[in-house]
Amino acid sequence: MDKFIVQKSCPLKGRVKVSGAKNSCLALMAASLLTDEPIELSNVPDLVDVRTMAQVLENTGVEIDRSGPGKLRLDSARAKGLKAPYDLVRKMRASCYVLGPMTARKGKAEVSLPGGCAIGQRPIDLHLKGLSMLGAEITTSGGYIYVRAERLHGARINLAGQHGSSVGATINVLMAATLARGVTVLEGAAAEPEIIDLARMLGAMGAKVEGAGTNTITVEGVTSLGGAAHTVIPDRIEAGTFAVAAAITGGNVVIADCSPEHVQSVTDLLENLGVIIEKGRKTLLVKADGQMPSFEISTQPYPGFPTDMQAQFCALATQAEGRSVIEENIFENRTLHVPELARFGADIAVSGRKIIVRGPTYLSSAPVMASDLRASAALVLAALVADGTSEIHRIYHLDRGYEHLEIKLARIGAKIMRVSA
Ligand code: EPZ
Repeated sequence: MDKFIVQKSCPLKGRVKVSGAKNSCLALMAASLLTDEPIELSNVPDLVDVRTMAQVLENTGVEIDRSGPGKLRLDSARAKGLKAPYDLVRKMRASCYVLGPMTARKGKAEVSLPGGCAIGQRPIDLHLKGLSMLGAEITTSGGYIYVRAERLHGARINLAGQHGSSVGATINVLMAATLARGVTVLEGAAAEPEIIDLARMLGAMGAKVEGAGTNTITVEGVTSLGGAAHTVIPDRIEAGTFAVAAAITGGNVVIADCSPEHVQSVTDLLENLGVIIEKGRKTLLVKADGQMPSFEISTQPYPGFPTDMQAQFCALATQAEGRSVIEENIFENRTLHVPELARFGADIAVSGRKIIVRGPTYLSSAPVMASDLRASAALVLAALVADGTSEIHRIYHLDRGYEHLEIKLARIGAKIMRVSA
């Protein structure tokens, strides 16, 4: 198992490039199941989750050609309505994205129930509710979900759950609706940039989708979809993580190949904390002096402050002057980074949905354990300002969603090294 060795590295300086968005790419790959013509994706990040999704699709008969760096060609002409097995689904919950498109195109899909997760219960009831309202028959047995449908039909579906909109359910049901007979209206739909990216590609494939990026999406079903070539949008969470890396180290970093408008809630907050942000069309300059006041944030669906940046801002709060309050509203258990940050010496505690951080605190190096993807990023950020040499274990979580993080950070001055334990 690999680990990172990280030494205090202040300030970070230079230019870092953002990769394609993991969470967009996974949905786009699954959408290839909707057509028997090839889908060509560019700006595909080299990530464990992307490889897992490729395995899930290959398991159903999709032919995947890694046609060059950052490129994937997916040909679903020979895909069958086969299983997404437990071994793959337990590694990555987004494997259940095959449910919608498989059912729509092949009339059946079988996917292992994903089970629990380190950040919360994460049920998929809204995915199943949506498919059921489109006319699919859903049964579960032996830990698997079986979905069957002759031909899906349009429906008016409210996808809002108790924590607000669901990104995954919107993706799954939107894909299914493209091939359903008649009109589907998705209310309470997620408005994340990844949904817009998916809708754009579906449009290029011949789907009739309106309203993506708002909470109401209307889909007029068509009988078949064609191929498309599509470039994955930049990863907004990776961009946000680099912005925090610059802020926490008092650095001066240009974040290139990003979409500044997708990280507005993050950059607005940093600006309020006195960090200088300069936006270009595809770049963000982040310049800080390492001094900042405390802050209060509350995670919300897009365009609110993203839950996927919560852990990184916990790390930042350890260096802010005063009492910061960070409220997690999307996932009930996304706090496993808290005791690990305390191992660096952070004054941090969980109180209900809130994480309370008092700063600035002197952090000193420690061996710590990553518990999930964004928690891993928070530990790297803390290690960059902790005196001494830290070890971050279980970085396989990080490899799921950050492309070559240690190489990118090292290029802007971080003393970080991967070693195989
Ligand atoms: C997506 O997860 C992302 N994953 C997550 O990224 C991200 O944290 C999350 O959206 C929120 O932005 C992918 O895109 C692959 P949800 P998803 O459905 O779709 C509840 C990362 O670090 N819910 O929007 O699973 C759910 O439990 C990650 O990259 C139901 O109750 O999230 C949560 O409380 C991790 N029933 C809330 O809705 C359902 O059927 C939002 O979850 C579905 C969700």
